[in-house]
Amino acid sequence: MVLRDPEHASPFHEPAAVDSAYEVTLRPARLVDFVGQDRIRQNLRIFIQASLERGEPLDHLLFSGLPGLGKTTLATIVANELGARLHTTSGPALDKAFDIVGPLTKLERGDVLFIDEIHRLARPIEEFLYTAMEDFKIDLVIDKGPGARSVRIDLKPFTLIGATTREGLLTAPLRSRFGVLERLEPYQVAELVEIVARSARLFGVAIDPDAATLLAERSRGTPRVVNRFLRRLRDIAQVRSSNRIDAALALEGLEMLGVDHLGLEALDREILRVLHRTGLPAGLKTIAAAVGEEERTIEDVYEPHLLRSGFVAKTPRGRMLTDSGRQALGLPPAAPFETPGGELFP
Ligand SMILES: Nc1ncnc2c1ncn2[C@@H]1O[C@H](COP(=O)(O)OP(=O)(O)OP(=O)(O)O)[C@@H](O)[C@H]1O
Ligand SMILES: [Mg+2]
Repeated sequence: MVLRDPEHASPFHEPAAVDSAYEVTLRPARLVDFVGQDRIRQNLRIFIQASLERGEPLDHLLFSGLPGLGKTTLATIVANELGARLHTTSGPALDKAFDIVGPLTKLERGDVLFIDEIHRLARPIEEFLYTAMEDFKIDLVIDKGPGARSVRIDLKPFTLIGATTREGLLTAPLRSRFGVLERLEPYQVAELVEIVARSARLFGVAIDPDAATLLAERSRGTPRVVNRFLRRLRDIAQVRSSNRIDAALALEGLEMLGVDHLGLEALDREILRVLHRTGLPAGLKTIAAAVGEEERTIEDVYEPHLLRSGFVAKTPRGRMLTDSGRQALGLPPAAPFETPGGELFP
C-alpha cells in the first residue's frame, strides 16, 4: 500500500503553503542551531560580526542551491543575527517595475530585504535593483515621451539577500552586485540525522538513532525531505498510540510513502522507466509529458537527485539512463547494441 500524502502524492514535493506551516516551527532561528554547511556558517559569522562592529549594513548576499537545503532559513537567520527587520518578497510576486519601489522605499537603515527566486525577476525590476544595491538610489522615470522626467529617490542603506535554485539563470550584472555568493550543497547523512533528531525533539516524539539514520539516508541530502518523512512517521506512530519511532516503523513508513532503499519514490522510478522505454537520450519536455509533471519540477526536484546518484546522465542530446539506473530498475546492464525498446538486435 502506498500512503497518499493528504496534500500531495509525493513525499518529496508539496505545495509551498503546506510547507510553510511546519517549516516555520522547525526552522532554526540562530546560526548555532543551523546544522552543516560549515564553511558558509563560518563565513556568515565573520561577516555578521564585522558588520555589527562597524555599524554598517552587511554586504548583499546570494544563496543558491537546490530546493529545501536551507536558503530561506539562512536568510531569516542572518536577519535575526543582525537584529534587523526582515522584509520578504519573491521574483514571481513582483510583476511590474514599480512593484519593487514600495518595498525598497519602506526599508529602514540596516533592514534586510529577502528576494526569493531572484532568478525570476522581470528585467525592468532587476534594473531598479542595480542602482538600489550599488548606490542605495533608484531613478524613476515619470511620464513617457518628450515630457518624461527622471526622479531620483534615495534609499536607506540595506542588505539584499537573494535566494535562487538556479544560479545559472541569474544575469551577470545582478550577480556581480552581490558581495557574498554562497552555494548550499546537499547534506551528509550525519548532518541529516542531527536535523531530524532536532525536529523530533521539537515535535515531542522520540526517534531511535537507527530510525533517524534510515530517514537521513533516503532523504536525498535535503533537510526539508527528512523533516517531511518525520511528519508522516509521527502520524503513523500517533495513530498507533506510540510516541516512539523505531527502525521497524521507519521502514514501514518509508514503504508506505513509496520510498525505496535507494531513496527513490514512484515518480523517480517512473522517470527511469521512461528513459528506459525511449532508449534514446530524451529531452526534459518528453520526460515531463511522459510522467505528467511540470518541467520545472522535474528539473528542480527530481532530476538533481537522479543525476547525483548516477542513475541518469546528461548528454548534449538529452538525458540518458545509466547502467546504475538500469540496476535501480532491476535490469541488467545495457548490451552494446541495444535497440530503443530495450530488445536486442536479433
Ligand atoms: N541546516 C539546517 N539545519 C536545520 N534545519 C534545516 C537546515 N536547512 C534547512 N532546514 C529545514 O528544512 C526546511 C527547508 O529549508 P528552507 O525553506 O530554508 O529551504 P530553501 O532552500 O529555502 O528551499 P526552497 O528553494 O524550496 O525555497 C526548513 O524548514 C528547516 O526546518
Ligand atoms: Mg526558500
